[in-house]
Amino acid sequence: MASLSVFRAPRIEAEIVVPGDKSISHRAVLLAAISNGSCAIRGFLPSHDCRCTVQAMRSLGILIDQPSENYLMVHGQRGKFQSSAEPIDCGNSGTLMRLMCGLAATQPFETVLIGDASLSSRPMRRVIEPLTLMGASIEAKEPTGTAPLKIRGGNLNPVTYELPVASAQVKSAILLAALGAPGKTTVIEPIASRDHTERILNYFLIETKRETTPRGHAISIYGEQVAESRDFFVPGDFSSAAFWMVAAAAQEGSSLLVRNVGLNETRTGALAVLLRMGAHVREVVQDSEKGEPSGEIHIQGTRLHGTVIGGQEIPRLIDEIPILAIAGALAQGKTTIRDAHELRVKETDRLAAIAANLTEMGVDVVETEDGLEINGGAPLIAGRLKSYGDHRIAMAFAIAGMFADGETIIDDTDCIATSYPGFEEQLQAFLDPSHEQPTPVINPAGAIEKH
Ligand code: S3P
Repeated sequence: MASLSVFRAPRIEAEIVVPGDKSISHRAVLLAAISNGSCAIRGFLPSHDCRCTVQAMRSLGILIDQPSENYLMVHGQRGKFQSSAEPIDCGNSGTLMRLMCGLAATQPFETVLIGDASLSSRPMRRVIEPLTLMGASIEAKEPTGTAPLKIRGGNLNPVTYELPVASAQVKSAILLAALGAPGKTTVIEPIASRDHTERILNYFLIETKRETTPRGHAISIYGEQVAESRDFFVPGDFSSAAFWMVAAAAQEGSSLLVRNVGLNETRTGALAVLLRMGAHVREVVQDSEKGEPSGEIHIQGTRLHGTVIGGQEIPRLIDEIPILAIAGALAQGKTTIRDAHELRVKETDRLAAIAANLTEMGVDVVETEDGLEINGGAPLIAGRLKSYGDHRIAMAFAIAGMFADGETIIDDTDCIATSYPGFEEQLQAFLDPSHEQPTPVINPAGAIEKH
């Protein structure tokens, strides 16, 4: 098992790019696969999670060529798949498993979805319930309602469904299933979650309608529309950039420019938090023509101070809470995180994992039912920390190690490959600036290619 060794880092003075967005890479492959022709996807994230998505589509009879690691050619089959003799392995990816449930629900044969130990313990009733209402038959392991899942679909009917929790994955599963149901399906979410699925559906010329209703945000879609094949560009992953943004924001005198990064407002809640904590943050949207806004973010570091993170902003920063907790530990005063109960059912129980590792580093932290109270500002103590098999915990605490004297070791860091291939290389470049920065090459279409 790999581990990471981290030391106190010098000030950051850098310009970087990060690999393609994970959420968007999954969706680009799925939409291209159900489209009516061939689509080039550039800027694709070649991480473990997204490779599982490519493999899943190939198992269902979709031809995908990969001329380079960030570049795919997907040959869509108008929403028709061939059944797979083998179970489809979703690896560690909750997004793939839940979105696959939606697609498998449109097919008139049985599909079996499996995942690793972490994914096999994550709640799936949240997708089983709406898809069953639409007419799919889904069997899970009982009494837990977890994977392996056996799905038999076809002949779906449209529904109006109110999500009990704000979840982009569940919303997306329903929207994808709705393509196989004649008539109008409406999903209502209590708080707006990331809207990548709605955007990419629209980009592939599938119409959706969004309304704000007294019960929440409603998204409606008519079934039996076929995605029109188009080329797609995946911007850099804001969630990957967030690790370095906090590393720069918490260090007086640091300056970091992140280029070609996704700036979808349903994802960038962490910027507002860093601003409230005192960091200098400037974001510039440079491109909004390709389905997803992207541009650059400039961060200048300072002595941060504590804040309260909660309420409606939680879905907009749900994956950044581990790294924002590190910002809280480095800030003067108290940072409170609340309304983040969903963190207990991510790749690991992230609230428990953050609290345990922060305590190990000497931070005064209290774990609450739906959040954390962090009394920041004391020096971080280097030590040996666990990743809990969770990529974002591993990366967040690698950043914490950059602020501690001595060696911080994070154990079991293979998981980082699920979302951020190249993280370690970038970390080395920050720990030792004489080490060459990984050099990005921007191809003529504007997408980042790694050579
Ligand atoms: C994701 C949605 C979020 C997020 C996850 C990716 C997506 O999960 O935490 O990392 O791609 O739709 P939920 O929708 O379950 O909140």
